[in-house]
Amino acid sequence: GAAELGPYRHYMQKEIFEQPRAIGDTLEGVTGIMPELFGDKAYDIFKKIDSVLILACGTSYYAGLTAKYWLESIAQIPVNVEIASEYRYRDSVPNPKALVVTISQSGETADTLAALKHARSMDMTNTLTICNVATSAMVRECALAYITRAGVEVGVASTKAFTTQLAALFLLTLTLAQVRGRLSEEQEATCLKAMRHLPVAISSVLALEPQIIAWAEEFARKENALFLGRGMHYPIALEGALKLKEISYIHAEAYPAGELKHGPLALVTEEMPVVTVAPNDALIEKLKSNMQEVRARGGQLYVFADADSKIASSEGLHVIRMPEHYGKLSPILHVIPLQLLAYHTALARGTDVDKPRNLAKSVTVE
Ligand code: G6P
Repeated sequence: GAAELGPYRHYMQKEIFEQPRAIGDTLEGVTGIMPELFGDKAYDIFKKIDSVLILACGTSYYAGLTAKYWLESIAQIPVNVEIASEYRYRDSVPNPKALVVTISQSGETADTLAALKHARSMDMTNTLTICNVATSAMVRECALAYITRAGVEVGVASTKAFTTQLAALFLLTLTLAQVRGRLSEEQEATCLKAMRHLPVAISSVLALEPQIIAWAEEFARKENALFLGRGMHYPIALEGALKLKEISYIHAEAYPAGELKHGPLALVTEEMPVVTVAPNDALIEKLKSNMQEVRARGGQLYVFADADSKIASSEGLHVIRMPEHYGKLSPILHVIPLQLLAYHTALARGTDVDKPRNLAKSVTVE
């Protein structure tokens, strides 16, 4: 009811602004990296695995895609990420030494539960879930669990569940890195410090809301939008496009920026806003040349840069600067302005933000 919403107009907005608290709670009590965070048997299981298979749907699947970049880079373990509804029905080659990780806000998504059972039926019994509901079927069915503490999420479009999943997956990355002897004590300390800083960092990103509202006024008049990212920010571009299409009904798709020239560039006109996730990482120069390709076709660029990206606003190039450069944790911060952009665009279009047409919060039937 209205009392619960406090100063917010919708649950989605409230849940976006709850993220500092949700992440803080999810990481509460994490005083060091240790397998036991994932369950009593975690060390024995983590010790014997040789790869990771992530299974999920929707926004949770994009959390999995992001985690692949972290796990392969930091823990140096091979990772496959699969959409649960595909995995459960395709012929695949089982690997009993894989750690099967399901990601689910509700813990009741039919396809994800079925994908887990399918994996188990092929002798893949090392199972872990990252889940927001401790009493769910998913938690009961998995050998190991990490419970995110987002709290009840009401908005159909997932926000705080996503960022808490990412926090948990980063923790999993550090833990597997440690078990595999790839995490020095110094790295552990640095990473923990950066994680503990997340609530404050997120709060300063949320303060960008007025600038994002100004962009949303423009987006509300469009029928198409393209989202670009590279590396671990490609899944963040996917999530930004999903958020926009779910609640504003604007057709949106995301591309890894390097693929632009293999198709979507044909769609770029002055009518096409192109949202670019552009933190200052190893790929920034590549990304800048992708942006140039868009500008040359008259496309309007809306860029989320960070403190060090060295991209300035100019004709057809709009820049919102993120307060800091967040290193490996950057995806958790960069998704937040995309959530706000989708929210305010939907608000400007007058759609039913918390209950978008044809969609359900939890898909418990196939
Ligand atoms: C539905 C929801 C999404 C969610 C997906 C997976 O489509 O609208 O927000 O990402 O289900 O749900 P889960 O509970 O398994 O994360």
